[in-house]
Amino acid sequence: MRIIFATGNAHKMREIREILGETDTEVLSMKEAGIEADIVEDGQTFAENALIKAKGIAELVKDGDTIVMADDSGLVIDALNGEPGVFSARYMGEDTSYRIKNKNLIDRLEGVPEGKRSARFVCAMAACFPDGTERVVEGKIEGRIGYVERGANGFGYDPIFYLPDRDVSTAELSPEDKNAISHRGNALRLMKQEVEAWKAERK
Ligand code: IMP
Repeated sequence: MRIIFATGNAHKMREIREILGETDTEVLSMKEAGIEADIVEDGQTFAENALIKAKGIAELVKDGDTIVMADDSGLVIDALNGEPGVFSARYMGEDTSYRIKNKNLIDRLEGVPEGKRSARFVCAMAACFPDGTERVVEGKIEGRIGYVERGANGFGYDPIFYLPDRDVSTAELSPEDKNAISHRGNALRLMKQEVEAWKAERK
């Protein structure tokens, strides 16, 4: 068995291998599998987008021995009606720096009190199994939007995302500490259970 994960992001692949790699299954990126595809993610939810991606790649694979996985993630801010949500990567334009995006979000929350700054990172992960079975799981991490950017680890919105009851942003965590509690880590751990359950059913 092998897993092809629909991402070109090396940082994600490392995290995915760390968690899914314990199974007796090879994990390949699309590039490593020699697949090129540009799938339009036009779903309304993280789960829809993850499944659109996984199904799109699975259509190209169909070799009876491959599980195709894809994820979609983003930041959901309650005080902004869930923005940036599924538009997290595209918020203010794909090429706009996160310095600018993060500052903009802090500015938009001006005057919003501590108790109303709740937010979460969400990661939906979809799998298409060779027998046509489809599974989608969702991982989350709860936090709040801070007043300043802090930390140099991580990426994207990490410097403004603070853990509840702890004065640290996720950009101040080591990669290992972040993976242990992150939305993507949680989704991957749930997906690992799905893979094991699917394999057990086939035996
Ligand atoms: P993707 O679907 O995993 O590519 O993530 C979409 C976007 O969500 C990213 O480009 C980031 O803006 C944001 N995002 C997702 N996960 C994280 C995270 O762990 N830290 C910071 N930003 C994130």
